[in-house]
Amino acid sequence: MMRPIISFVFTAFLATAKCFPSSGDDASAAIPSSSTSYWFSQPVDHFGLNNDPWKQQYLINATFYKPGGPIIMLTPGETPITSYYTDGSHFSSLAQLTNALVVAVEHRFYGNSNPMPDLSGESLKYHTLDNALEDFAAFIRVAQSNPSQVFPVPIQVNSKVVFGGGSYAGAVSAWMRAKYPDLVTGSWASSAIIKYQLENYPFDQSWGKHLEVLGCGQDVIEAVKDIDGILLSGNDTAISELQTKFNIPALTPRDLAGMLAYLIAAYAQAPSSKYTDYTQATVCDYFDGTMSPLDSYAKAVNGMVSVNGYTQDSLVQMGDTSLGYDNYALGQSGRVWYYQECAWYGNWQIATPRSTGLPRYRSQLVDLTYYQPNCQNKFGKNIQIPVDSESFNKKWLGMLRGVSNIYYTVGELDQWRGTNALTWNGYVLPNTTQSPIFLIDKATHSQDITSARDTDLDSVVLARAIGNNLVMQWIK
Ligand SMILES: *[C@@H]1O[C@H](CO)[C@@H](O)[C@H](O)[C@H]1NC(C)=O
Ligand SMILES: *[C@@H]1O[C@H](CO)[C@@H](O)[C@H](O)[C@H]1NC(C)=O
Ligand SMILES: *[C@@H]1O[C@H](CO)[C@@H](O)[C@H](O)[C@H]1NC(C)=O
Repeated sequence: MMRPIISFVFTAFLATAKCFPSSGDDASAAIPSSSTSYWFSQPVDHFGLNNDPWKQQYLINATFYKPGGPIIMLTPGETPITSYYTDGSHFSSLAQLTNALVVAVEHRFYGNSNPMPDLSGESLKYHTLDNALEDFAAFIRVAQSNPSQVFPVPIQVNSKVVFGGGSYAGAVSAWMRAKYPDLVTGSWASSAIIKYQLENYPFDQSWGKHLEVLGCGQDVIEAVKDIDGILLSGNDTAISELQTKFNIPALTPRDLAGMLAYLIAAYAQAPSSKYTDYTQATVCDYFDGTMSPLDSYAKAVNGMVSVNGYTQDSLVQMGDTSLGYDNYALGQSGRVWYYQECAWYGNWQIATPRSTGLPRYRSQLVDLTYYQPNCQNKFGKNIQIPVDSESFNKKWLGMLRGVSNIYYTVGELDQWRGTNALTWNGYVLPNTTQSPIFLIDKATHSQDITSARDTDLDSVVLARAIGNNLVMQWIK
């Protein structure tokens, strides 16, 4: 495994070597920069409603490619593409191990990959999961049958494709193997979000489990009860005192509740190391018994605001749900993600409902009425409320059953664990030798696909090794 100190020396060596260009250096000179954008033509709709062409962006890293090696295909999913995806993740060391080409393809409607000129509800009707997956499949068909059409370096015809990704992109990776088994040999699905329901309160519960493990769960429950007591009191003086305590501008009580739920957990997905758990450092450390749970909660939120340098203006932008309804400009990842929630699957990160009898770690004002009205306000009356999450889940989780060559990793303390292959309530898919599930002790979100560091948890190191071995078996 490559350790940071070695990779630093290695990079420094290459940098020095570049100062003395030698005429015998042709091989490396032929390798294009991984920050060069390439573009692949796709139709707006693969299923016949609109054949207008648009260009999908992709990046490649051919540094480790050798003939006979596979293509490791990735997508960032719901964020714009950067060369992190070709150069900076664990998939780079996997490429080195397997002589692979790495190609990262942007997901439709994110970053610079825009089928339509804006992000109105009318344009986003072409934002379907079937279309997004078919984009990747169309790319793979050409990459395999006629590689010189998409790659600037010689790549063998019919190379095997291994798809990888984390979180939503982890699910995309699994769906690609399930839907296109002839094109995709195997999939590394890290913290893949595969279980969908309208009310994603398991998100609240998973965060709560992390707090309980660290010992501050009960304190957070108490603080939330006190916050709700004030927000639901209708006492404007008390509510405005609460805003002042949190140093957050005037928002509606519901928007304030949503904002607090977001801010306190802003580091919940940061990777844990052997020495640091960010939920400990940014939440539990504040509940040290020297003040009330509510005051501790406020200190934690104040800390989050100052670490991130949020201004009062940026907090209003972030917290006021009535803003941005009519902003259809391209490049708004958050808007496109919201569309997926509204139109595809819901999965709303609500407070745990009282009816479950389970403890609650965020304000009860963060419920479906906090989220759903935004759907029609942002995307128009054609959006059905509520979305049919059950049908989505039936189709897309159903598709994964019995499929071979998918490697599912699950972070034990991941906030998204309630949507993964092994939730706190048990297996969502069976753990088979064909498609194994690995539970990463103490880990948060998608830690296995980050690049190696000295301080990595042993469990993360093991998760990577298991994945590497599986990929080597698949491509044999
Ligand atoms: C490809 O990724 C590797 C590993 O991160 C990096 O060392 C190399 O510089 C990248 N290649 C190019 C051409 O950028
Ligand atoms: C409203 O809250 C303020 C500040 O906490 C408090 O002094 C006041 O008594 C409350 N009013 C009522 C009617 O409870
Ligand atoms: C899945 O099964 C494998 C053995 O095939 C085992 O090593 C692994 O721990 C199991 N995963 C879970 C989450 O139980």
